[in-house]
Amino acid sequence: MSVHEDPTYDVVGIGFGPSNLSLSISLEEHRANVLTDPVKAAFFERQPSFGWHRNMLLPSATMQISFLKDLVTFRNPASRFSYVSFLHAKGRLAQFVNRKDFFPTRQEFHQYLEWAESSMSNVVTYSSAVSAIRLPPGDVPGTSEHLQLEIRDTAGGATRLVNARNVVISTGLQPRMPDGVVRDERVWHSSEFLDRWGRVEPEELKSVAVVGAGQSAAEITKFFHERLPHAQVHAILPSYGYSVADDTPFANQVFDADAVDDYYDGAESARDAFWRYHRNTNYGVVDDADIRYLYQVTYDEDVAEAKRLHYHNLSKVQSVEVDGRGRKVFLKSLRGGKPQPLDVDAIVFATGYAGMDPTHLLGDLDRYCLRDEAGRHRVERNYRLVTTPELTCGIYLQGGTEHTHGLTSSLLSNIAVRSGEIADSIIQRRAERELVPAVAGRLEAGEKRL
Ligand code: FDA
Ligand code: NAP
Repeated sequence: MSVHEDPTYDVVGIGFGPSNLSLSISLEEHRANVLTDPVKAAFFERQPSFGWHRNMLLPSATMQISFLKDLVTFRNPASRFSYVSFLHAKGRLAQFVNRKDFFPTRQEFHQYLEWAESSMSNVVTYSSAVSAIRLPPGDVPGTSEHLQLEIRDTAGGATRLVNARNVVISTGLQPRMPDGVVRDERVWHSSEFLDRWGRVEPEELKSVAVVGAGQSAAEITKFFHERLPHAQVHAILPSYGYSVADDTPFANQVFDADAVDDYYDGAESARDAFWRYHRNTNYGVVDDADIRYLYQVTYDEDVAEAKRLHYHNLSKVQSVEVDGRGRKVFLKSLRGGKPQPLDVDAIVFATGYAGMDPTHLLGDLDRYCLRDEAGRHRVERNYRLVTTPELTCGIYLQGGTEHTHGLTSSLLSNIAVRSGEIADSIIQRRAERELVPAVAGRLEAGEKRL
């Protein structure tokens, strides 16, 4: 293995999705960076270029949040990286406002992210998967001022070793399949949808199924119904029918930056109330417009007596068997009875995601990271992992903090503020280490982000 060793960075970010893209901008805009030497930051992303859930960029899919909850605005409304600046740069500001709609398409939001990324490309290296974080070989815990990261070149080049005083892990959600179901060329998870779709002949798909009752399931069901006019489309729902995503104003407050404090400082019963009352703002729920569209299509087919969109409600997939080129799916109804077979040419599991879990990346370092009674990582308010005193370097999480910081952990809603808080913490730690009392004092006194 040929290994190239880099200098020591103040901060290395693992993954370059919207969260760490927002952090890179926050570090660049930080007032303290103007007062002292700029923070030396590097980000490593395993994809060959920037991409945000590319396999779900379905043509008409819209964002689930306001365009104002972009990479920066809630931290710094005057930032040049705002969605409004993007629209202005593209010459579309007036046209966008004429729509009188807070929710851009996901394709346009992707363009925005790429536009912002193009100004930050000097800090990110693509085709680079971080495979391990460790104490530098030979270093004794408690004395080491940095961590070492091993970075695998996914394009086949040399492995790199990089040193960092702080690490920000932001590797995203993990696709979740039902137990015992294995993905293959005809059994897909929604996270790989457009890639898989691009590799099949649509005419071959005469019967398809979509599992789940969340936003991904509804969007893929709609897509199949539109793109496969010759096919039978089966929606397999664990519920009785699709439920609406609550984005009414009072409920939407759970995504406000202040709600993070209420969650973080709240008693276990308060945290439990967030989930009990407001899970339906995000999980297993669908936009009102998509529900109405699917219901109208279903009704129109009833009227025309030409049914090809079929619902199997109160049902789960028990198993999937290979059957020639197709697949035999066994559906277990919650009403009881024997599992019923369904023959399909392809099946998509829109069965959601598990939250980010840094355990695997942390490897041996995990033994310095403290956990709560339920075995989950303890995390400080500034998103730094709570560690034993011997581990002096900072390891921060962007994602995987639903148990400590609440519902925004895996979402875009709070990334501008969250990445500002992480930047504050990293810069404050450096100012303290380098004994720049003026900067450390001003940060301590609350003069933080721009
Ligand atoms: P994200 O998953 O975007 O990025 C993580 C990055 O890390 C990836 O680019 C990955 O390749 C990289 N990576 C992983 N492991 C690595 C390693 N070992 N080394 C290097 N790189 C590594 N939320 C919301 O608020 N509004 C919305 O409209 C939507 N829409 C939406 C649509 C779809 C289809 C999904 C699945 C999810 C959403 N979400 C959402 C939620 C979603 O989590 C959120 O939009 C962001 O993707 C969160 O950004 P992150 O950067 O944290 O993760
Ligand atoms: P999700 O909301 O977690 O929904 C997963 C669905 O699969 C739920 O209905 C779940 O039912 C069901 N399910 C899980 N296991 C199952 C099984 N074994 N059999 C049958 N059903 C099963 O996942 P998602 O729809 O992918 O959404 C994830 C996130 O992405 C959300 O934040 C969402 O807003 C976002 N998203 C956004 C867009 C967009 O911006 N346009 C598009 C897609 C997704 P239970 O609830 O009973 O577990």
